[in-house]
This record gives sequence, C-alpha cells and structure tokens, in this order.
Amino acid sequence: MKKSRIVVIGSGAVGATTAYTLMLRNRADELVLIDSNEKKAAGDALDMNHGIPFLGTTKLWAGTYADCQEADIIIITAGAAQREGEPRTELLKRNTVIMDNIMNEVMKHNSSGIILLASNPVDVMSYYAWRKSGLPVSRVIGSGTLLDSARFRYLIGSHLSIDPRSVHAHIVGEHGDSELPVWSLANVAGTKLELSDEDKDHIFTNTRDAAYEIISAKGATYYAIALALDRICTAILRDEGAVLNVSTLLEDYHGISDVYLGVPCIVDRGGVREVLKLDLSDSEVELLNRSAAKLKALNASITI
Ligand code: LAC
Repeated sequence: MKKSRIVVIGSGAVGATTAYTLMLRNRADELVLIDSNEKKAAGDALDMNHGIPFLGTTKLWAGTYADCQEADIIIITAGAAQREGEPRTELLKRNTVIMDNIMNEVMKHNSSGIILLASNPVDVMSYYAWRKSGLPVSRVIGSGTLLDSARFRYLIGSHLSIDPRSVHAHIVGEHGDSELPVWSLANVAGTKLELSDEDKDHIFTNTRDAAYEIISAKGATYYAIALALDRICTAILRDEGAVLNVSTLLEDYHGISDVYLGVPCIVDRGGVREVLKLDLSDSEVELLNRSAAKLKALNASITI
C-alpha cells in the first residue's frame, strides 16, 4: 500500500513548526523537509527524528525536489516573512522570485500532489503557483483565511466564554488587511450573536491585526498557521469533505472572478471540491469586492 507523504518546502519558522506539528499528529507516513539551506533542513530533520521514539513511526528526512514525485501534499512555506509593521503585500516581489524557482523545481517532479501554499501574500502566491503549475484549480490551495477565521472564532469564544469550536464565524477575502468579518452569518448553535458594534469592532480589529501584534512581540508567527496547515492536510488525506476557509480561484462569486481569495470551500482528497457561496449582506459583498480588486491589481503587477 502506498505510503502517504507530505513534503514541506521551507524549513524556517513556519515550515519547521508545520513539519513538527504533522509529526506530533502522525499525519503522514513520510515527511520530507526541503530548504535552500540544506544544513538547516538536515538539522531540523535530525532534531525531529530524535523525538520519534516518543511518538510513532513517521519517517522524516531532509530531501530534494525529487521527493515531490511521490508526495500527496506539497506545502510551500518558503519566502521572506513579514518584518514588524510590514504588510504581507510588501513581500510580493521578493516572494514571487522565490516562488518561481520553487514551482519550476516542483513541477519537474510533482505527479499527483496537491500544492498547499502558506507563503505570503498567500492569495497572490497561490494564484501565481496555480498559473505556473498548469494544474486544475482544485489542486492548488492557499491557507487563505482559515487562520484568520480561527483567530476570529477564538476571540468571539473568549468574549462569550464559549468553546471556540462551537462558534461558527467566517473571515473571508484577502489573508491580510482587506479581509472582512461575516457578522451577518456568525452564530452559536444557529443562534445569531448579540454583540455591540464596539465589541464587534474590537474583536475584528484584533483578528485582522493579530499577526502584526505577534510579530511585534516575538518576531514571527508560526504555531497557529502550522495547525491550520495540518487541518487542511487532514481534510485532504482523510478525504473528509471538510468546510475550510482556504484560498481558491473564485468564479462569479458575488460578481468576483479570476482571483484567489479565502472563502468556505469543501476540501477532500482531490483538494478543493466545491466553493460555497455565502449569503452575504450587501455591505459584506461590497467589502469582498474591494478585497478582490486589491488582489487582482497585485496579480496584474506580477509577470507569470
Ligand atoms: C499570519 C501569517 C501566517 O497571519 O500570515 O500569522
């Protein structure tokens, strides 16, 4: 029986933490770390392998792009990370060059793997990777607003003293400054949330700006994004059909087309199976269109 394999490209804070999270959760039979700094990838693999006796049977190694041949999922985390106060979109030029090189190498070997992007600005990087890959849209996925929606649910749950897993609330649009909260559909057990405008503004602002706050405190974010990437990998490997706010190509979504944005999607073994069109309020549609326009302009600014 074929062994499941996840390749993680980029063994920086996000990539190494993601690989470690996948190992802790025994997510795949095989984990491969690839980094341009081969010594770093080898060191991370060695350090993680020494923990295997406490865990299970994952086979983990520092590899090469040839290891993508047998990969079920190829997670791309490589690239420059936000500096303090720096918007994710400032990384566009640097990370497009890096992504170009990575995709050229990946597509020399990738046969049936799903490409999962976390490199920022993730919606633009996902669009770029999809165009470069020539793969069906379903097989090129961005982490999107899954992390933002988790932050949103956590903050709502904390405010209401309710388990965030019981809070159903979406952040959609750009994984970034133009993202928007879908308050009109937020609920707990189907019960609409009764929050003051002040509380809503406080919760959303802290959601949207969470990365800035964390980066200011400790230089980078990596724990929650690693868990978000693990969640997407689970939905794929277990063919769950889970609804996750990942970044995918929208077509006629409230008038929006030809841009990757974070919206609720059904994710299974084949990647994004279906995009769920939320019944947004007029003001939410307007904000989503603004987010789309921002990202389409960024997409147009890069040469593919
Ligand atoms: C964050 C990074 C993953 O939002 O963009 O933490």
